[in-house]
Amino acid sequence: MADLLQDLEDLKREAGAALAAADRREPLAAWHGEYLGRRGRLAQLMRRLAEAPAAERATLGRAANEVKRELEESYAARQEGVRQRELEAALEAERVDVTLPGRPADVGGLHPITRVLRDVGGIFGRMGFQIFDGPEVETDEYNFGLLNMPAGHPARDMWDTFYTTIPNLILRTHTSPGQIYAMRSQAPGPLRVILPGKTYRYEQVTARSESMFHQVEGIAVGEHVSFGDLKGVVVGFAEQMFGAGRRLRFRKSYFPFTEPSVEVDVSCILCGGGGCYLCKQTGWLEIMGAGMVHPRVLRAGGYDPGEVSGFAFGMGPERIAMLKYGIADIRYFFSNDVRLLESIRY
Ligand code: FA5
Repeated sequence: MADLLQDLEDLKREAGAALAAADRREPLAAWHGEYLGRRGRLAQLMRRLAEAPAAERATLGRAANEVKRELEESYAARQEGVRQRELEAALEAERVDVTLPGRPADVGGLHPITRVLRDVGGIFGRMGFQIFDGPEVETDEYNFGLLNMPAGHPARDMWDTFYTTIPNLILRTHTSPGQIYAMRSQAPGPLRVILPGKTYRYEQVTARSESMFHQVEGIAVGEHVSFGDLKGVVVGFAEQMFGAGRRLRFRKSYFPFTEPSVEVDVSCILCGGGGCYLCKQTGWLEIMGAGMVHPRVLRAGGYDPGEVSGFAFGMGPERIAMLKYGIADIRYFFSNDVRLLESIRY
């Protein structure tokens, strides 16, 4: 009996020392296996109880259970201590400084042409114009014929055209064919629409000319629509688009689909009017062509030119964006250099 009691005492001491040395999760688990496991040291001692004389068994059993209970309690306390220390270490390692300023998210910006198109739409919308859409791939008839330029008309030379392999099918050189669709949708009633979209020309690409660019066409038809109405609308538009300070010039011009015709210029953004490479030394930048809708075009649109009159205009948003944001070269718009967008964010 003395032997077993002594062995229990020794085991308790040894286990206590080993437990004190187990300061992390893995050694702790190993300790549990060695001393309290099903085949552990304590279990081995307890098996020896069976060999003890019957009279001593109860005392020995109580002593063994007492050692077991003490070791289990010590183990639980130690386990809790280790868990606590690991938690504190993790909190320390993953500490978040909530006072640090956040990293700014990289948000995109609207392309300047999109912005100009939206601004133009807003300005004309407030003047009562609706938005109308037309196709970018056009027939020769709509791009030229119905606009008073039958085959062989010398005015066709004003627009260098991209032809497709299908006869008479071309990329539209301007948004003016949209005038016909718009008129046919409303005639003989009054009409007031703008038609924004892409246009294509076989152009020499320069600082102010691209082979793909946008236009916004505008057309108003009704009784007593006059050139004065056109001028009022264009001046109202320019004031809202560029501010009241900028100078405007109406210069007589020629378009087969308007009579009389003008071109509208705004004082150059780069030189302010003194003359530079951007404005070809003229001091002016052309932003649109305009005029009174030709009677033949009115008729092609389904109107009686004896009853109604109309004005139309076609402007270039790229040129307007150059003026508005001080961009000196039209090629920047579609060269996909993100620095352009970054330089003119709101
Ligand atoms: C026309 O295209 C006419 N259809 C405009 C018009 C409409 C006149 C209705 C009368 C009535 P023009 O070729 O001048 O005209 O072009 C109109 C505008 O488009 C120009 O003022 C300019 O701002 C822009 N534009 C013309 N060519 C280019 C180009 N290669 N690159 C960028 N913008 C251009």
